[in-house]
Amino acid sequence: ESQTTAAIRGQFLDFADVADCPSELADTVRHLKDGLLLLRNGHIEWFGDWEEGRDKIAENCPVHQYPDKLIVPGFIDAHIHYPQAEIVGAHGEQLLEWLENYAFPAERKYQDKAYAAKMADFFIDQLLRNGTTTAMVFCTVHPESVEALFTAAEKQNMRIIAGKIMMDRNAPQYLLDTPESSYDASRKLIEKWHKRGRLLYAITPRFAPTSSPEQLEMAGRLKKEFPDTYMQTHLSENADEIKWVRTLFPERSGYLDVYHHYGLTGTRCVFAHCVYLEDQEWDSLLDTDSAIAFCPTSNLFLGSGLFDLNRAREKQVNVAIATDIGGGTSFSMLKTLSEAYKVMQLQKQKFSAYEAFYSATLGGARALSLDHLIGNFSVGKEADFVVLDPAATVLQAKRLETSKNIADLLFNLIILGDDRSIFHTYVNGCLVHKRDD
Ligand code: GUN
Ligand code: ZN
Repeated sequence: ESQTTAAIRGQFLDFADVADCPSELADTVRHLKDGLLLLRNGHIEWFGDWEEGRDKIAENCPVHQYPDKLIVPGFIDAHIHYPQAEIVGAHGEQLLEWLENYAFPAERKYQDKAYAAKMADFFIDQLLRNGTTTAMVFCTVHPESVEALFTAAEKQNMRIIAGKIMMDRNAPQYLLDTPESSYDASRKLIEKWHKRGRLLYAITPRFAPTSSPEQLEMAGRLKKEFPDTYMQTHLSENADEIKWVRTLFPERSGYLDVYHHYGLTGTRCVFAHCVYLEDQEWDSLLDTDSAIAFCPTSNLFLGSGLFDLNRAREKQVNVAIATDIGGGTSFSMLKTLSEAYKVMQLQKQKFSAYEAFYSATLGGARALSLDHLIGNFSVGKEADFVVLDPAATVLQAKRLETSKNIADLLFNLIILGDDRSIFHTYVNGCLVHKRDD
């Protein structure tokens, strides 16, 4: 009989089951004031009340106690660009000019393997210090950039989804591949990395304007040949972008139809932004079981627009939440949820603390078809979790005195929290980040 490898005692919060609407969350939330989590081989072996579970702790098993903290499942960031960490907060432009002036020149550097390796380590460290344990990541057009990221993620045993950008037009020559070279390089990367440990591959056409029809066809071919891979791209983020797509693909009925035509919709297909969808595009996302990555800090920073989450709820389309570094401005999912709340406020829409935490954990896992593996503390799942400090700052400690219940505490964590709120981060049952105090 194998032994429990660690026990964690503290206050826990997660959601026991996926929910189809926000009103169900109050019934599925699990809040244990004095709880116990038993870990074995990177998985959750037992979860429940301390009093009920304390006898199950093996004699030599270490017990990590976290009084005055709150332990939640690791955060899931459904859309982020690792090579753009170095250009966060670049002043002055909206999407298309921002790509030309900032994103493309930064991505050029990732042809250098050593540079990519250094930045991949930096990126993984940023995720962990913000409590993000799973991310769906854009690399650059260079296969070396993907090698570097998967290598860095594998060192920490992280569940990371990533892929090589496919891009053969409308970008600087130094960043272009071809339909054939993008197919060959993506295929090699899939064969090497997809499902290796916890790693997963995403076929990654950057967005419709930077791929020829021939390249999109190759992307669709890869998706057919490797149906259990992911697909990630951008969709309807910015008004000028949408107009451009219409002139580039006049034969298609709309922006999403470009992807749909080439077989790039479906389960495990994730579309970032979706700020300006037509009615039939919402229906098509639902019909194909595609998912949306809502990127509030990016949509505000690049002046793109306000994502209509109520519409997504009505249409029953799966939505995950994402930072979109470096169009987005923070690695922190807490800050991202705070900005999501404000995006909703500007539209007179509601966004509860429960919905916020759900969307960054089990809801995100469901949108990425990973809810059988991660997203809560259910027995058998992979043990990725975060120990939050609700009193990380003097202000937060003061605010805590007037917080009435757990929903209040969660909401304060979102609105006032950042990387200082992340006390410890665990991946695959191992402590991988401690706040520098
Ligand atoms: N659309 C195409 N490429 C990008 C990118 O790098 N960032 C954002 N926010 N939108 C994009
Ligand atoms: Zn993006």
